[in-house]
Amino acid sequence: MNVVDIINKKRKKQEVTTEEISYVIKNYVDKKIPDYQMSALLMAIALNGMNERETVDLTTAMLHSGNQIDLRMIPGIKLDKHSTGGVGDKTTLILAPIVAATGINVAKMSGRGLGFTGGTIDKLESIPGFKTALTFDQFTKQISHIHVAVASGTKNLVPADKMMYALRDVTGTVESIPLIAASIMSKKLASGADKFVIDVKVGNGALMKNLEDAKKLAHLMVHIGRIHQKETICVLTNMNQPLGSAIGNALEVQESMDVLQGKGPMDITQLAIVLAIQMVRLGKNISEEEATEEVRKVLMTGMAYEKFKEWIQTQHGNLEKLTVSSKIVSIKSKQNGVISHIDTERLGELTRQLGAGRYTKEDVIDPTVGIKIEKKIGEFVISDEELAKVYVGEKDINVNDILECFTISEHFLDNEPLILDIIKD
Ligand code: URA
Repeated sequence: MNVVDIINKKRKKQEVTTEEISYVIKNYVDKKIPDYQMSALLMAIALNGMNERETVDLTTAMLHSGNQIDLRMIPGIKLDKHSTGGVGDKTTLILAPIVAATGINVAKMSGRGLGFTGGTIDKLESIPGFKTALTFDQFTKQISHIHVAVASGTKNLVPADKMMYALRDVTGTVESIPLIAASIMSKKLASGADKFVIDVKVGNGALMKNLEDAKKLAHLMVHIGRIHQKETICVLTNMNQPLGSAIGNALEVQESMDVLQGKGPMDITQLAIVLAIQMVRLGKNISEEEATEEVRKVLMTGMAYEKFKEWIQTQHGNLEKLTVSSKIVSIKSKQNGVISHIDTERLGELTRQLGAGRYTKEDVIDPTVGIKIEKKIGEFVISDEELAKVYVGEKDINVNDILECFTISEHFLDNEPLILDIIKD
């Protein structure tokens, strides 16, 4: 078999075989296929796509590129949740304790920030002392004891994805439906949970910019899950503005605690509840009404917030030491009107520039910086009123860049729905 022939096939929009896909992944991970050939193949896939069978084969080949976690020794069903990546997306921090408080095991391997999107591990590490590098033994014991653990992936979990993602990030091949589906599902399948809920973000702050593409991605992931006998539900959600108001690591932890105490922004509260209901429904095999009641109970009684504190303490985090920058710059509107558009991707990018994300693997994050959105789409604003607060650290950004992320119009707007679809088959 020859990698050049395989690249040529994909370039000519021809189907590649199961054996060819497995050959490429194995030899790439073994460093027998160089990055430049893999880049060419990834670009051919990004341009010409893959059919369902090829995508399933790609997922399987990636899954088998490293170790797989076996969680069968933990009694009960294990649930995992994944987001395709957004701005201000702190949903895992809220969801995990809600679901765990209902008695379901949440076993989650999370990632760091990627491009303009934030990552759960970076958010959790903004809590002084919080340990994300758990051994397998620590991970499984913690789930057995308190029903929740969130850890950074082990080194040898889907190494093909680690290598391919880094390459896709710098070769303009991130936004490809089969590549995203295989990347996400290979990691979910390797992480040992029984069922998955995937939040597929759609909009100007997401990888999927339109609903049609998001639906294709969702159906594909549900199909891959079914082939591996792992029930998968995709919830398609609006990412045309940041979720909640906080963007930035410690700020997002603070906002998550607000949500768990019933005083957080509406949109992120609603999203966390919708996703939690799906997870509880799957985890307990109960109706949506019963799951809604369970979620309501743990939120209203404070059990979910108590579970959050227990989880953070168990992973050695000290919430009393959580700090946000005290240097705050206010961004004010220059006109009256209604917020009609927020450039979410740009806000994510500006937060990264402030120091909340990385440009190289070696960059050290400043957990205290970020942006707080004070006005969201559809809200009125008058001249000189605050649109956002910027929590500044060592790196400054141009205030006008943030102002330009807000479009203000003279007309009322129809509300955009937050939950766009739920795909189960
Ligand atoms: N998240 C992933 O894990 N992989 C992708 O390819 C895109 C989003």
